[in-house]
Amino acid sequence: MMIKTIFWKNNSVVLIDQNALPLVERHVLCKSYKEVISAIKNLTVRGAPAIGVAAAMGVALGALRLPPLPPEKFRKQLLAICEEIAKSRPTARNLFWALERMKKVINHSRQTSQRDSVKELIKEAIHICSEDIEINRQIGKNGGFLFTNGDNILTHCNAGALATAGYGTALGVIRAAGEKGKKLHVYVDETRPVLQGARLTTWELKKEKIPFTLITDNMAGFLMSQGKIDKIIVGADRIAANGDTANKIGTYSLAVLAQVHHIPFYIAAPVSTIDTSLKTGISIPIEERKSDEVTHFKKVRSAPTGTKVYNPAFDITPAKFITAIITEKGILRKPYSISISRIHKGEKHS
Ligand code: MRU
Repeated sequence: MMIKTIFWKNNSVVLIDQNALPLVERHVLCKSYKEVISAIKNLTVRGAPAIGVAAAMGVALGALRLPPLPPEKFRKQLLAICEEIAKSRPTARNLFWALERMKKVINHSRQTSQRDSVKELIKEAIHICSEDIEINRQIGKNGGFLFTNGDNILTHCNAGALATAGYGTALGVIRAAGEKGKKLHVYVDETRPVLQGARLTTWELKKEKIPFTLITDNMAGFLMSQGKIDKIIVGADRIAANGDTANKIGTYSLAVLAQVHHIPFYIAAPVSTIDTSLKTGISIPIEERKSDEVTHFKKVRSAPTGTKVYNPAFDITPAKFITAIITEKGILRKPYSISISRIHKGEKHS
């Protein structure tokens, strides 16, 4: 089943509205890059690879809507649009990676007409989108063998088709194992406060007919102690050069619990999520979101007015707790500083 998270149609960006799921399945149309920025900020589109694709398409939309300009002015305005999009969310590496790709096209097309530059930018954005689906399929192929028939897998947040252009990273590995005939069962963390697990991962697994059970985040440790979890797999928003990984808040607790219970803890992510400019996870910028995500549920208040809130959207899992990082280029093992630097040199891993 193909879930169409994000696509380019009639010079607009079409997004599945992830805030409306699972109750309503509808698509929203972005006709300007400003609308794409709002969609990224308000989580209409979310998940690191999907944000990257949205950013690229946002630049293409920006280029398309600019009036005819002298070449240097056109280039400068596009770079300014990239800067504006870069401010939409701080943690997902893929957003900045996609903008870098678009900036290369912008800077290479200095000699080209504005019309042709716009065409090139649209082409690159669509390419980033379709490439992401292929990459996720490859991540699935590489990681699928780690799961055995009958495994109970725990996942956190949504690292599925909805978090990418399609197929998913962590859920992609689960899908790939299923496609090979393995019968898996997935425990889905609800993922407070935005409920990406309860609303989105369950929606995807239901569509895929993969058996699942929803739990609240605070139940995961007890299930591990009961021997109900065989393996854990999650996605990533940014991976530092030493393997420390930023992912949805709550991931770190799962990794520590997994260590105590001797449960393999896997990260699945494209190479574009790795940020080799950061030596360790401590330098990864962590987004803090608004307090009403914690004090309210769908506009209904659940904490007294004036309650002080701290709402980091991501946490950092130290590399030492990660059993392996599954990428499209192969499975990375410890020490990650070495396996990551090899991958950046273009070597394959098995
Ligand atoms: O705040 P979100 O919903 O964008 O957070 C998403 C996650 O943390 C995902 O696990 C991560 O982006 C990996 S998606 C393949």
